[in-house]
Amino acid sequence: MNGRKLWWGLMVGACSISATLGACSSGDNGETDVSSQDVEAARASRHRASNKTCKAPARPDDAGTFPAKLSELGCFTAKDVRKAATGVVAYEPQAPLWSDGAGKPRYFAIPDGTTVHIEDNGHFHFPIGTVLIKSFVLGGRYVESRVFVRHTDGGWAGYSYEWNDAGTDADLLPGAKTKTVGGQSWTFPSRGQCMRCHNDSAETTLGLEIAQLNGPTATSAKNQLETLAAAGYFDAPLPGPVAALPRLARYDSNAPLEDRARAYLHANCAHCHRPSGPGAGSADYRFGVPFGEMHLCGKSAMSGRLMFSPGSPATSEVSVRIHAVDGSRMPPLGTQMVDPVGTALVDGWIQQTNACPGSADAGADGSVTDAGAGDAADAASQVDPSAYAPCDHAVALAEVQASVFNGCAGEACHLRPPMAANLDLRPPSAYASLVNVTSVINPDELRVVPGDPSKSFVWRKLTNQLGPGEGSPMPRGLSAWRPLAGDSLRALRCWIEQGAPR
Ligand code: HEC
Ligand code: HEC
Repeated sequence: MNGRKLWWGLMVGACSISATLGACSSGDNGETDVSSQDVEAARASRHRASNKTCKAPARPDDAGTFPAKLSELGCFTAKDVRKAATGVVAYEPQAPLWSDGAGKPRYFAIPDGTTVHIEDNGHFHFPIGTVLIKSFVLGGRYVESRVFVRHTDGGWAGYSYEWNDAGTDADLLPGAKTKTVGGQSWTFPSRGQCMRCHNDSAETTLGLEIAQLNGPTATSAKNQLETLAAAGYFDAPLPGPVAALPRLARYDSNAPLEDRARAYLHANCAHCHRPSGPGAGSADYRFGVPFGEMHLCGKSAMSGRLMFSPGSPATSEVSVRIHAVDGSRMPPLGTQMVDPVGTALVDGWIQQTNACPGSADAGADGSVTDAGAGDAADAASQVDPSAYAPCDHAVALAEVQASVFNGCAGEACHLRPPMAANLDLRPPSAYASLVNVTSVINPDELRVVPGDPSKSFVWRKLTNQLGPGEGSPMPRGLSAWRPLAGDSLRALRCWIEQGAPR
């Protein structure tokens, strides 16, 4: 076979709507294994299609010109907005994120003349101008397309497009939206919510890394890394032969159950639950981390349950959270339906495991010792009405510091590093960490809005007025939530009402 055929038989620019179902219109005719000769041939030919049209637009607030229609983005063909334009590359992670059963065709496009740099940890570092796209297809119907771009200032931003019912084009959404599609509820995330998962500690882009691309797609047995390398997409040769590089196990493969469960946790959880990530607790779900160092062998500081209870998924916090369909559901956004495959993998792994290798350091995970709080919980979980009593004096920050913040010293606390949720409540930092500062948990909200407790995330957290995905009420560290004393809460409320003076 010649190099050109090899290249076009892969995946550039021409995967159709049915890509999610496993058929590329580019006519991959079932060629298997890429021999090194093929790769050489591909490298020698002109194989990287020029990308003339798919480039990151300016930020909407700079120019006000972010394309209002998906068809105007330049990344899809004029005839069929579901088909990628020339120079736009389709790819497939080995271990995808669960999105309530949606099929997800994915594409990337980089400007001509640029390349992708692969970091030592396997993460792909994309050039300015890059466009990444993921569409969501439910029962054959296009519902949403998410576009993640690297703007000229070097920063990334995410945008969501809602498809019309006819499936001919999609409109840019200004913010979050929920609707019913084919009997299931579908939530389009806000631009701020994109960044909760696509966060700095996970290096912003998530599914494009060595371990995710080191394998075939559903429609082609060719290794995607080799294909991309051969086509000149990287600034340097691959760090080694693909067989020696990390690779996530596909969920449907015959890889050991533990490897598949770990691949699932990596893809679905590790962007938040990793060192200094926005997830709570110390668990680290990245696949390369040895089991004993995942910090799964202690108790959950929130429920008192073991995080990972060998042989017993039902009593393991990790399993309970992925089976939950209420506000405690994990991941906390982007999904409402339980994943049958993912839960089976994780539960199966817990079931077949005899011992938790990190038990010895469970204490470091902040095991809960305050047993017995559970029974009293119902009565205790009501906010004392005095928290809402009128303010009878001017409340200074020092009073709030003493009666509220100085107590925030539990597990994953806010008084000693690493500061949970990046919230530093030590006296010199509390003001700068709170007032008019965007919440990490809900980036559409500010932690403290001077004058308005009900709009202040901190107040809602402490009084348990939380929506889905906003996590558990504070303070935590007990097996059941108990609010702070009424007069402490009142001090906080009055301070905010009085304009949150410094
Ligand atoms: C619940 C967490 C979560 C939220 C919220 C989220 N994403 Fe993602 N996204 C992921 C994960 C994990 C991947 C990689 C795995 C995959 O593609 O299945 C991903 C992949 C992508 C990709 C493919 C490129 C990449 O980084 O891997 C694009 C494009 C994308 N998301 C755009 C968006 C946009 C735009 C938003 C907001 C409108 C958004 N996402 C919200 C978790 C999230
Ligand atoms: C968008 C970021 C994000 C993602 C993705 C995410 N989590 Fe979380 N996780 C959080 C936050 C924030 C909390 C604390 C709030 C809460 O308890 O609901 C949390 C809490 C937890 C807890 C309780 C920790 C404790 O110490 O008790 C567990 C267990 C957990 N997550 C597991 C998971 C698993 C498993 C996944 C993947 C299937 C996942 N999370 C995905 C952000 C995330």
